[in-house]
Amino acid sequence: MDRRWRRTATPLAVAGFLAGGLVLAGLAAAGAAAARSGPAIRAMQWVAPGADPARALGSSPTECLKPPPDPTLAHRVEVGRAAFRTPMVLGGQAGRAGISCETCHRAGRDNPDFLFPGVSGAPGTADVTSSLFSTHRGNGIDDPKPIPDLAGPKSALKVNQAPADRKLEPFIHGLITEEFDGPEPSPAVLDGLAAYVRALDPAACPAAPRRPLGVEMLMDDVRRALRAGRTQIARGDPATASVMVAAARTRLGLIDERFDTPALAASRRTLRAADRQLADAQAGLRTGRPDVAPALADWLRRSRPLEARLVGQAPRSLFDPARLIEAAKRRLPG
Ligand code: HEC
Repeated sequence: MDRRWRRTATPLAVAGFLAGGLVLAGLAAAGAAAARSGPAIRAMQWVAPGADPARALGSSPTECLKPPPDPTLAHRVEVGRAAFRTPMVLGGQAGRAGISCETCHRAGRDNPDFLFPGVSGAPGTADVTSSLFSTHRGNGIDDPKPIPDLAGPKSALKVNQAPADRKLEPFIHGLITEEFDGPEPSPAVLDGLAAYVRALDPAACPAAPRRPLGVEMLMDDVRRALRAGRTQIARGDPATASVMVAAARTRLGLIDERFDTPALAASRRTLRAADRQLADAQAGLRTGRPDVAPALADWLRRSRPLEARLVGQAPRSLFDPARLIEAAKRRLPG
């Protein structure tokens, strides 16, 4: 245990508590009253003091993704895209705190508002040799570096992305298993993450640099992850399919936490029931139950009316910019 550990013991303990069993299950089990003593939105814990909450929490950079025309490669990118957004992939302290690749590289870009005590120096930096996240790589010195925009020009990036050179795969493998103490990724997850990073392309950046973080965007991510999961089931790869379902549940959790108000209790119950079905799908993948693929297909069909209902109620939730700013004022110092 080094000094950074102690310095961050409190926020991490809170984060660990909130992260228990992926937001939804954790909150249900621990009791809503206890959960309310934590931040309304978990990401508030790594937003720099003084950052504009409307920007940091209410919007996201736009993604610069150039989907490959080849459907097989395009599927690998989708697997990586979902894995990139799943704390389970990082595992360890970071995963338990709810941090995924996308926490630092938002939408595959950078994150000027990121500040995690003991890991960041200035906002937008992180020490990826921090012993806080790793028992392997901690070098005992504060060494925070700016989080690079992975959709920047490839020539500006340090790691060679040429597919034939296979440099990106071992780099990402090291990040997960050594830097973040994560579990060994399945071959399809590792391959997918590399394919996703390679498919980020400055030429594919939309005109608008940012977009509102809304229900539609998150539900779209949920569906993309589940579709990728179905394909992996068909390929006989339940381990990767399970990561895809976890990705979907993480995105649902981001909706759930913004619906934490008594007026929206009924919708929250529906969301939680939807999450339980996905948890059940994960259990089915572990035991090889044959009903998981049709269950996911059914879930995907029912996601449209669920989304319509949530979109209708979003103005009463923390997806509403004014409510979000109010909640952030109560939580964010400075
Ligand atoms: C805690 C924040 C954080 C998380 C989480 C994170 N990264 Fe990074 N990443 C960084 C920083 C900071 C650097 C720059 C390190 C340096 O310059 O030495 C970096 C560098 C990289 C690079 C190399 C960029 C280059 O210059 O070639 C890639 C690729 C990358 N990250 C992918 C990922 C993937 C994939 C994940 C999830 C498995 C991930 N990162 C998770 C902060 C993070």
